[in-house]
Amino acid sequence: MDSQLPLKGQHALITGASRGIGLAIARRLGQMGARISICGRNEQSLDAARSQLQKEGIETFSFAANVADSRQVSALVEAASAKFGHIEILLNNAGIGRFGPVNQLNETDWDTVLDTNLKGVFLVSRAVMEGMISRGRGHIVNISSLAGKNSFAGGSIYCASKWGLLGLTYSMAEDLRAHGIRVAAVCPGSVATEFSPHAGKDPRKMLQAEDVAHAVAMILTEAPQSFISEVLLRPTQKP
Ligand SMILES: NC(=O)c1ccc[n+]([C@@H]2O[C@H](COP(=O)([O-])OP(=O)(O)OC[C@H]3O[C@@H](n4cnc5c(N)ncnc54)[C@H](OP(=O)(O)O)[C@@H]3O)[C@@H](O)[C@H]2O)c1
Repeated sequence: MDSQLPLKGQHALITGASRGIGLAIARRLGQMGARISICGRNEQSLDAARSQLQKEGIETFSFAANVADSRQVSALVEAASAKFGHIEILLNNAGIGRFGPVNQLNETDWDTVLDTNLKGVFLVSRAVMEGMISRGRGHIVNISSLAGKNSFAGGSIYCASKWGLLGLTYSMAEDLRAHGIRVAAVCPGSVATEFSPHAGKDPRKMLQAEDVAHAVAMILTEAPQSFISEVLLRPTQKP
């Protein structure tokens, strides 16, 4: 392994990478030598993210796709593989939140959040894992949340999606480890992004998107005989 560029030549797909945590992960993996494919739903912001990464010298491909739609997911994986070859690293990062007292949330809120945060991870993982199985190696990293470990008022649907994502992650890890595929979850606390208002929190004390990217980089550089299955990431001082 090239210690300066430990991911040199590898192809990483990062979902939800037009901004926030996904963009920070894309940048970090690109700096580590990976070729980067990114997706998101909004084509304009995705193009802007791709241009930004390319200006920084990172080989980047972008494709607008909704991770909750299996046809769009197939088209994404096909287009990315045609551009940069097999996907060796998958970052399931795309996610959304709907917050409020449970009695004020509706079926559409449930479907939108669960389809993106949970079904989306299943769909994108399924689309890349056969290739990983046939090559006998691969990394899948799922961005869950401390909301997948702790409940809080107003968090019902979001917490359900992230708790569910941890169950999916650990079962996938068991199914795939014999094939040389390592599946991990990263569970950050509140991160200073556009994801939600984070009312009353001091953004300077909050986790930064780059902190999550650092945890992902650590997972991806483990020696082949071991794998980090879960990272819980907290701010040093409570924001
Ligand atoms: N920020 C936090 O406090 C925090 C804490 C713990 C965990 N997380 C998790 O970290 C992940 C990233 O969060 P973030 O803070 O970076 O959020 P963000 O700034 O809102 O970015 C979300 C990204 O996901 C994309 N996206 C959303 N729905 C999508 C879909 N259905 N298909 C494809 N792309 C989609 C968005 O682009 P489009 O809107 O254009 O699709 C955007 O690029 C999420 O899974 C979130 O749950 C966040």
